[in-house]
Order: sequence, then C-alpha cells, then structure tokens
Amino acid sequence: MSDEQELPFNQNLIQQLTGLDSLQLAWLSGYCWAKAKGNSTTANIPSNETPKTEAENSKPLKITILSASQTGNAKGVATALAERLKQQPVSFQQFFAKDYKAKNIADEELLLFVTSTQGDGEPPEEAVALYKFLHSKKAPNLSRLEYAVLGLGDSSYPHFCQAGKDFDKRFAELGATPLIPRVDADLDFQNTANEWIEQIVQLISQKSATKTQVKSESNTIAAASSQYSRANPFNATLLTNQKITARNAEKDIRHIEFDLADSGLSYQVGDALGVWFENDPALIMEIIEQIGLTGDEKVEINAQSFLLKEALRTQFEITQSTPAFVKGYAKFAENAELSALVEQPETLAQFIQNRPIISVLHQYPAKLTETQFIGLLRPLAPRLYSISSAQAEVGEEVHLTVGLVQFEQQGKVRKGAGSSYLAERVNEDTPVKIFIEKNDHFRLPQDNSKPIIMIGSGTGIAPFRAFIQQRAADEATGKNWLIFGNQRFTQDFLYQTEWQQFAKDGYLHQYDFAWSRDQKQKIYVQDKIRERAELIWQWLQNGAYLYVCGDASKMAKDVEKALLDVIAEQGKLNADDAEDYLNQLRENQRYQRDVY
Ligand SMILES: Cc1cc2nc3c(=O)[nH]c(=O)nc-3n(C[C@H](O)[C@H](O)[C@H](O)COP(=O)(O)OP(=O)(O)OC[C@H]3O[C@@H](n4cnc5c(N)ncnc54)[C@H](O)[C@@H]3O)c2cc1C
Ligand SMILES: Cc1cc2nc3c(=O)[nH]c(=O)nc-3n(C[C@H](O)[C@H](O)[C@H](O)COP(=O)(O)O)c2cc1C
Repeated sequence: MSDEQELPFNQNLIQQLTGLDSLQLAWLSGYCWAKAKGNSTTANIPSNETPKTEAENSKPLKITILSASQTGNAKGVATALAERLKQQPVSFQQFFAKDYKAKNIADEELLLFVTSTQGDGEPPEEAVALYKFLHSKKAPNLSRLEYAVLGLGDSSYPHFCQAGKDFDKRFAELGATPLIPRVDADLDFQNTANEWIEQIVQLISQKSATKTQVKSESNTIAAASSQYSRANPFNATLLTNQKITARNAEKDIRHIEFDLADSGLSYQVGDALGVWFENDPALIMEIIEQIGLTGDEKVEINAQSFLLKEALRTQFEITQSTPAFVKGYAKFAENAELSALVEQPETLAQFIQNRPIISVLHQYPAKLTETQFIGLLRPLAPRLYSISSAQAEVGEEVHLTVGLVQFEQQGKVRKGAGSSYLAERVNEDTPVKIFIEKNDHFRLPQDNSKPIIMIGSGTGIAPFRAFIQQRAADEATGKNWLIFGNQRFTQDFLYQTEWQQFAKDGYLHQYDFAWSRDQKQKIYVQDKIRERAELIWQWLQNGAYLYVCGDASKMAKDVEKALLDVIAEQGKLNADDAEDYLNQLRENQRYQRDVY
C-alpha cells in the first residue's frame, strides 16, 4: 500500500504544511484538535502544559471571577476582566462575594480574585464570611485550585492591600497554586489593573487551547445604568447645610441636603453618595508658596493643560500624605533625617499617619518645580457619605450627615478636604458633582415584619435615619431598636427631635444611648450591648437583623467583640460556636456593617 492510500486525507495537505513556522503549525494542531471534537471555535496559542487525557481535555476549564468590593472599584475591575474574557472562547462565571457561597471555593479550578482592603486592613464586608471560612477549622483543601489575586488598596493606610495579601497567603496555605504572583494596586489602580487583566487573559487563552472551548454567557450583573455616575456626576444644588451639634460641641457635624430634581437619580436606603470635592484654595496657595512657586505655572495632565493652582484644586489629593509622596519628596528635600526615615518602612508608616502633606513640607522645606511636585501626588478620589434620607420621605432630595474633620498641627488648624468642602466651601450657587454609590451589603430586610437592631456612633447614625424613614413610609410592622453613641447628650444627640417623633409614631420601639463624656467613666455602644445582652438575644431569636455603622478602626471591632460575648453567654456557646453563629447571621444578611 502506498503512503498516500494510508493517509486519511490528500497528500497535498501535507505538502502545504512545508514552510509553515512553528507557531503556525501549533495553531493548526489546536484547530484540528478542536475540529475533531466537533467544535469549530477558534483555536488559541497552544500551552506548554503536560498533555491531558481526552476526558480531561473535553471538560472546559472552570473559571470563576470573584470580587470583594466596598465602594465599587474591585467590582469594576472584575467586571472589566469579565468583559475581556467574553471576547475569548472560554466559559466563566462572575460572582460578587456577597452572592458567593464560601463552601463553593472547594469546587473551583481557576479563581480570579479582586479584593479591596477596608477598615484597618480588613476584607470588604461582603467577603468577611469567605475570609472567616478560609481561616476556620472547616477550611477545605485547595490543591486543585489555581488562583490570581489583585489587591486594591491605599498606601496611606498602615496595612496596605492587607486583604489581598491575606487571601493570597491563605489560598497558598490551603494548597492552591498561584497562576501569577499577587499584584497590589494603589488608589491610582487603573493601569496596574489593566496590565493584570491582560496578563490573565493571555494566560487563560494559552491554557484553554488544550481544552474544549465553549463560549458561554457570564452571569455578570449589569451595573445599574443611569445617565449620571461616578465618571459622569450630576451637578447638584445645595439646599441645606445645618450644624446639628451644639455651638460648644467638640464635633462639628452637618446635616446636608442636595436637590436631585431633573437628575433622574434614585437611591435605596443603605446607599452612599459620592462627592467629587474641590480642594481648599487657601491650602493650595500655602503649598504653592512653600515649594517656591506662584500657582500660574502650566502643567499637563492627560494631555490637558492646567494652571498649577487649578490642577491642585480639582485633580489631585493634597491633604493626606502617602509613603510614595514622602519617599519622592525626600529626594528633593535632601535632609539627612528625612532620608533616613524613608528607608525604614515601619517608621515611615508611622510618620505619615495623621501627617498632612503641608506639615511634611513645613517640617522639611524644599523647592520643587511644578512637574516635580505633581509627580508626587495621587489623583483626586471622591469621598463617600452614607445617605441619611429615604426617597419615600424626601422625594427628589438626598440628605447626608457629615462630620467636619479638623485638627491642629504645627499651630495651625488643618481640615479634611472633602468634609470641609461640604461643610464650609459649598453654597447654594456652587454645583456639587455627585453620584450614587450602591451598597447592596447594607439593606433593610425584605420582610418588613422582621425586627432590626441599629448600632452606631457619631455620623454612623446617618443610614439609620434613612432606615426609619423608610420603615415608617412602608408602615413596617417589624420592631426597631437604636443603640447610638456620641460624646455628650446635650451637644451631640444627632436628630434628637426626629428620634423622639419616631418613638411617638410607633417606629422606634427600643433605644439606648451611650454618652461617652457625660460621666467620669467612658460609656460606649459596646457597653450598652453587654448591658442589654438578654434582650438582644431575645430579639435575635425573633429573627432580628443587626446593623452596625460608623468608625471601623475601633467602634466596629469593639461592637463585634461585645456581640460575640452576648451570643456566647446567652446562647451558652463556646467562642468558636459563637463565631459560627455570628457568621451564619452574616451569611444570611442578618449582620450587616457599613463602617469606614
Ligand atoms: C462607605 C462610606 C460611608 C461614609 N459615610 C460617612 C458619613 O455618613 N459621614 C461622614 O462624615 N463621613 C463618612 N465617611 C467618611 C468620608 O468618606 C471621609 O472619609 C471623611 O469625610 C474624611 O474625608 P476628608 O476628605 O474630609 O478628609 P481627608 O482630607 O481625607 O483627611 C482625612 C485624614 O486626616 C487625617 N486626620 C484626621 N484627624 C486627624 C488628627 N486629629 N490629627 C492628624 N491628622 C488627622 C487622617 O490622616 C485622615 O486620614 C464614609 C466613608 C465611607 C467609605
Ligand atoms: C474606610 C476605608 C478603609 C480603608 N482601609 C484600607 C486599608 O486598611 N488598607 C488599604 O490598603 N486600603 C484601605 N482602603 C482603601 C481602599 O482599599 C481603596 O480605596 C480601594 O480602591 C477601594 O476599593 P473598593 O471600591 O472595591 O472597595 C480603605 C478605604 C476606606 C474607604
């Protein structure tokens, strides 16, 4: 028999292969293989993996994109990755951590995980259950898992990208293999995120060349479409700016109202409002003079020309310093003390805490050019404020409860950029750029007969005012309990008359107030929780939902400890079982937090 007869196809085909380079040949082999499987999708660049059995190959690679986000950045990156993967001949699923069952992690094969860090180095609320599960005794073996982690963070925090680091470490401890090393991205994460996405897409397309490729729809949840968004904010008019702490109070807290008429914007209670603020002109000039410039120098940002003073007003963060800022500035300052300090990461982290840029400039003076200076700054990021109204009550308005950040340093009063903009620099004629930031991790129970317990301090009261407005508008039958703390009864009782009215109208059934400075011994909300242990347990047995809002670094942690103590004591559980109980509440959306 001739060779030609032995071959199942025409000899000419073989001749045509002569002259093809190795990449073209490899491409063809993938193409033919996919064809043989009865699948006509495009073949990809072959991988150099060890060959798999036919059965293994016929199973599409199980790819899961998971994001853990508080304010939408990680979610946005994960969704961008999903969009890119949709262009590839692969199937994948996308989940937001709040919809993801922690136990399912054991069945994953390739996990692409984007997480921000919140609080004091913690995972975002929606990923706390997963985090706790992975760190518990019940954590599964993950040896069949490959994963990639992109951490989003802010290098001005002492625990930069800690959640990403923790997840990465834990996946590896449980036997999983990194597809690529973890990437940590700072506030200006976009370029780093794009590079990470492209790297992942390339690796997946290589991997999936040896797999049957079935293109399927992801279950990506489309972002709410609205004309106005973070990227395209609405110019809102200020309606009210009223101080709601007493004249002599230590805290200056404002009740702020904006008009949403003609914006088409709507929100749910639990959502936050994003505000694109402008920096303080007085601080801008102080900075400019300190570095030896006039403010009229021209700078180029994204191919647009600005005067330096304009750029500092609308384009950059100029309050809180970061390690990158101090390190970069040290090169110009040529000061031995500062140069030594930036070489020690821990000392540097401590130094930048509570040290605004202007204080660094005064402490270690130096002259810089406009380009050198803006090269050290981070792009301006909007501030978020929990919405303190319900549209059912206020219609086309949105209300906020804003604490003015102010403190003294080097003999001068320094203020927070966003809070001082809202409290002091905006008037009825200043259009304020705003957008709605959805927060699906902080929602009233759908069944309005369920009781709720709201725990918060300071401006943490904001969403609870919205909750009760909504419960009243819905004529909800569930009981409402407020546990609120602030410094002094006579000076810091935010929305006092409104709470009295809610109680009168039958929408505030139980309340406890912790005034920390009204007596010698400090009393906080966590003390009230312990005092009320029996009643809290009773409410929990009756299906109560727990909500915590306000300070993340202390209050939220102390409240969680108190809740665990109550659960252990009243439920007669050991510490591990009390943790499990609270985790179960969390997974069932009965323990939700909005902390910052
Ligand atoms: C989801 C969410 C909801 C929020 N809801 C609310 C809300 O309802 N109400 C509200 O008021 N805020 C709320 N915040 C916080 C708000 O977004 C801002 O972070 C806050 O207003 C401070 O921003 P700023 O621009 O005024 O301060 P920045 O210019 O960002 O300055 C803050 C920095 O000042 C420094 N600093 C503060 N105090 C001192 C001090 N004593 N000494 C030295 N340095 C100091 C610290 O380094 C701090 O990081 C929320 C945040 C999030 C994420
Ligand atoms: C209240 C709060 C606390 C934060 N804590 C940290 C932190 O401890 N470490 C860190 O690296 N970044 C921290 N960040 C910065 C966020 O991780 C960063 O802004 C990220 O881009 C947010 O992504 P997200 O929108 O997906 O949540 C914090 C941000 C906020 C608002």
